[in-house]
Amino acid sequence: MRASVAALVVFFFARPPFLVVLLGCGLAWTPLASAQPTPPAAPAPVPAVIASSGDFPRGTATPAAECGACHRAIFREYAQGFGSDMSYPRMALRGGEHPAPAPPAGSSVAASAHAVAGTDPWPIHAREAEEEKRKCNVCHFPRPFAIPERGVAEIAKPAPRSEAQAEGITCAACHLTPEGRIRGPHAVQAPHPTVVDERMSRSEMCAFCHALGKRVPGKQTQTYLEWRDDFAGPGLGRQQCQDCHMPRTLRKTAEDADVPVRAVARHLWTGGHSGQRLGSALSLVVLQPRRDRAGVELHLLNVGAGHSVPTGSNRRAIFLRCRILDGRGKVLAGREWMFAPWYGPRPDDRAFLKEDEQRPDRVAAMQADAQGPHEAPIRAGEERVLSWEPKVRDGSYTVEARLIYDLNRYDDPRFEGDRRELSRIVLPLVKASR
Ligand code: HEC
Ligand code: HEC
Ligand code: HEC
Ligand code: HEC
Ligand code: HEC
Repeated sequence: MRASVAALVVFFFARPPFLVVLLGCGLAWTPLASAQPTPPAAPAPVPAVIASSGDFPRGTATPAAECGACHRAIFREYAQGFGSDMSYPRMALRGGEHPAPAPPAGSSVAASAHAVAGTDPWPIHAREAEEEKRKCNVCHFPRPFAIPERGVAEIAKPAPRSEAQAEGITCAACHLTPEGRIRGPHAVQAPHPTVVDERMSRSEMCAFCHALGKRVPGKQTQTYLEWRDDFAGPGLGRQQCQDCHMPRTLRKTAEDADVPVRAVARHLWTGGHSGQRLGSALSLVVLQPRRDRAGVELHLLNVGAGHSVPTGSNRRAIFLRCRILDGRGKVLAGREWMFAPWYGPRPDDRAFLKEDEQRPDRVAAMQADAQGPHEAPIRAGEERVLSWEPKVRDGSYTVEARLIYDLNRYDDPRFEGDRRELSRIVLPLVKASR
């Protein structure tokens, strides 16, 4: 079987030396042929079939608005993000900025990420770099898939759909089974064929697109595996993805039908585009362990996520910026750490840049390696301790530490538009060695 090839696009630059690169997130790591023996051929994943049932002749290309005619509140959440605080900042592209999906006129909210998966200019540009422009379709435009089993060692790629890509991740993408029925968590009487599947309320439902390949702690595209192995497995929490990302409310699921009120999941899926979501992920503690030294200890605790932070795409990053100021507010020294998923199954490192040039996915591999070694994401429940000792004389100072989330660590480092401050701590520090 041919290994899947990662792909990407480079956009250049208006202003050298800045390379503004778009990078896909779901890239499979392709080892260099010369560097490693060819692995034994694995059985090819069973291709998912497009449902051809009379009820849904267009399969997962069935527009969400058609389901929304009856499931109005769910559609409003999915299509407008109604009830969320999501926003899509503009991002740097070709040395400039690219337009972001705008909220509907006259409203304060923005669509869910699943709804914009086919229209958000960012993934569209990224995917245009694909060979045959097809390889990225798998999760952004999937065919009906069977929900994977919990214990699987490796999550296969979903089969792609080429029709109606602007529709993105439709209702049918998640709800239509390969047999052509609509799966849901309850036994219901509906005007379309349905099947109850209790895994709809479990993390396995999200696994297909939110994980790729085998578990490699530190690597990108591991969200489901991080949840399973780091969070649920050791018993850190009982929440499934839905419990955090699809909070429930009491209502009818189909407003005009004669059906009971149920606990229904809000179809919002807030993530990196939501201040509420990001703000709940990490805690930061700063302390000065010894009075005779100016050394500080920074503790970063994952208290709110059921997986690593940042999770998912290797483009996401969190920066911890620390600096020390004197009594007049002058900055004397500073230090920065970056926390981000690795592009491939080993830490990003400049040492691989030469080797990367031979790779089919050289652009993606090189932009990650060019940033050099950095901190891996903070795993579920983990407390990461960092230390820094600025060289200063005895006296009174202020240490300031800021946590900053960045939607795309590869863009122009001067571009602030896609960053968000998560927290800021100010610690008065007195060094008295005598
Ligand atoms: C295994 C499924 C999967 C594959 C394959 C995949 N993606 Fe994604 N993609 C996702 C998921 C899930 C997200 C949501 C973000 C996350 O997990 O951090 C995402 C997010 C993105 C984003 C980020 C949008 C933003 O908000 O910044 C871009 C761009 C993107 N994908 C492009 C690509 C490209 C280009 C490819 C092909 C090289 C690709 N994707 C292949 C699942 C996938
Ligand atoms: C059919 C594939 C697919 C399935 C199934 C799926 N997702 Fe996604 N998800 C994606 C893709 C692709 C994106 C990125 C879309 C984009 O930004 O263009 C995404 C984005 C997200 C985001 C938002 C990230 C951001 O950047 O704001 C969250 C949160 C999320 N998904 C959670 C879930 C949860 C929870 C489930 C299970 C109930 C789930 N997803 C099921 C493909 C999927
Ligand atoms: C003509 C109106 C109508 C249309 C169109 C429609 N549905 Fe439904 N659907 C219903 C009704 C009524 C129910 C039963 C609701 C209940 O008992 O709570 C239902 C049930 C469901 C359920 C199961 C709910 C549960 O609680 O488990 C899901 C999932 C669902 N629909 C998804 C969809 C999707 C996806 C589409 C589009 C492909 C769609 N529906 C189109 C009326 C409709
Ligand atoms: C990313 C996957 C995904 C997409 C896209 C999606 N759903 Fe759902 N849907 C779910 C999951 C997961 C649940 C079960 C939530 C739970 O545990 O209560 C669900 C539940 C439902 C239910 C049953 C009510 C409930 O929450 O128990 C209905 C009806 C439904 N969805 C309709 C829709 C419609 C209509 C759309 C499009 C506008 C849509 N869904 C898009 C994943 C999705
Ligand atoms: C205990 C609550 C909790 C659980 C359980 C949980 N998450 Fe999250 N999730 C968070 C928090 C907090 C963030 C924000 C921090 C981050 O982006 O890593 C987040 C962020 C995300 C993002 C955004 C990544 C991006 O690039 O924007 C995705 C996608 C996501 N989660 C998917 C999932 C999936 C899939 C599951 C289940 C396998 C899951 N989450 C389980 C709390 C949770």
